[in-house]
Amino acid sequence: MSFSDIQKKEAASLMPTYGRFPVALVKGKGAVAEDCEGKQYIDFTSGIGVNCLGYCDDGWVAAVTRQAATLQHISNLYYSDVQTELAARLCDLTGYSKVFFCNSGAEANECAIKLARKYSCETYGPQRTRIVTLENSFHGRTVTTLAATGQEAFHHYFYPFTEGFSYAKANSMDSIRAHVDEHTCAVLIELVQGEGGVCPLSPAFVRELAAYCKERDILLLVDEVQTGVARTGTLYCYEQYGVVPDVITSAKGLGGGVPIGACLCTEALGGVLSAGQHGTTFGGNPIACAAALEVLSRVSTPEFLAEVTQKGEYLRQKLASLPGVAEVRARGMMIGIVLQKDNAKEVASACVQNGLLVLTAKTLLRLLPPLNIRYEEIDRGLEILGGCIANT
Ligand SMILES: Cc1ncc(COP(=O)(O)O)c(C=O)c1O
Repeated sequence: MSFSDIQKKEAASLMPTYGRFPVALVKGKGAVAEDCEGKQYIDFTSGIGVNCLGYCDDGWVAAVTRQAATLQHISNLYYSDVQTELAARLCDLTGYSKVFFCNSGAEANECAIKLARKYSCETYGPQRTRIVTLENSFHGRTVTTLAATGQEAFHHYFYPFTEGFSYAKANSMDSIRAHVDEHTCAVLIELVQGEGGVCPLSPAFVRELAAYCKERDILLLVDEVQTGVARTGTLYCYEQYGVVPDVITSAKGLGGGVPIGACLCTEALGGVLSAGQHGTTFGGNPIACAAALEVLSRVSTPEFLAEVTQKGEYLRQKLASLPGVAEVRARGMMIGIVLQKDNAKEVASACVQNGLLVLTAKTLLRLLPPLNIRYEEIDRGLEILGGCIANT
C-alpha cells in the first residue's frame, strides 16, 4: 500500500488521537526502520523507549515465536510457568518481593495507587487516601493517572477526575511539606521526568523525600515506566539515587516491543492486594512474559549496563558539541536536547525527511535510542541530526 492510501484509510477509520509524522513504518532490523516506500531511517526513538533491543532482535524474535507456538494465552485463573519465572526474575534482580503484571505504564501506576490506598485504609482508616505527585509529571492517560499527572494541560474535558491528587514542586521539600497532611498515603514521582522534558530530580531531594516518607509511613511510589529496564544505565533508575522505594512501576522497555507492565512492591506490601481486588485479562500473558524474560536476560548484565552508560555519555558529548545545541540533559540513553532556537518540532520533522527518527518533549528534542544501537548507527544519526539543527 502506498503512503497516501494508508493515510486515507486511517482518516476514514481511526480516531484522530495522534499527531503523526507523515511516515508509515512497515519493517525494521536493529536501529534501522523502513517505511512503506522502502526509505530507511536510523531510529533514535525505539517506539518511545519500548524496543530496547531494537527491531526484530534475533533472540527476542526466537523467544516470542517459541512461546507463541507453545501457549499464547491462559487466563489468570490458572498458574503459569513463564509468568512465575518472570516475577521471580524481577524479584531476584531488584530485591522487591512481589509483582503484579498488567499491560501498560498507566495500568502499572493504577496498581501502585490502589495498593497505596488499600494499605493506608487498612492501616490508618479510610480518610488517609491522598497522593502527592509532582508538577510537570506524566503518569498515563487513564482517568486516574491523568489526575495523577501534574500538568494542567491534561486536566480538561474528562471530568470528574479521580479525587485525591495534589502537585508539589519538583526538588522542593518545602513544597512537599506544604502538600502532605494527615490524609496523605503516598508520594508518586518519576526520577527523570521524561514527557515533562527530560528533567532529572536532584539526588539530595529524592533522599530527603524518601526519609521524610519513611518517618511518616507514607509510601514512596516511583514511576519507572520510562526510566526502567536499563534505560538510564542501571536496571532501574532508583538504584542511582541510593533509595529503595516502597513500590516501583515498569512498562515500555520491559517487553521489548510487546505490551507488558509491572508493579513491584516490598515484602511488607506483598499481601495488600488479595484475590479479587485487582486483576486484568491479559496481564502476565505468556508471550509478553517470554519476551520480558529475554529482555531481562540481556539488559541486566553488568557489561550491557556499562555500555548503555558509555553510549549515553558518547551521545551526550557529541550532542553538546553540535552548533545550535544549548544544553543536553542525559541519564544513560534518556536524552533531552535544548536547542538555541526554539524549533524542536521543526527539527524533528526535518530529521524524518532526512532519514532519522527523533522525539520531542515540551520544547526539547528527545532521544530514546535502542539500548543496543551500534556506534556506527549513532554516528550516522548524529550526522543527520547535526545537519537538521544547522539548517532548520
Ligand atoms: C513516566 C511514565 N509513566 C506512565 C506512562 C504511561 O505509559 P503507557 O503509555 O504505557 O500507559 C508513560 C508514558 O509515556 C511515562 O513516560
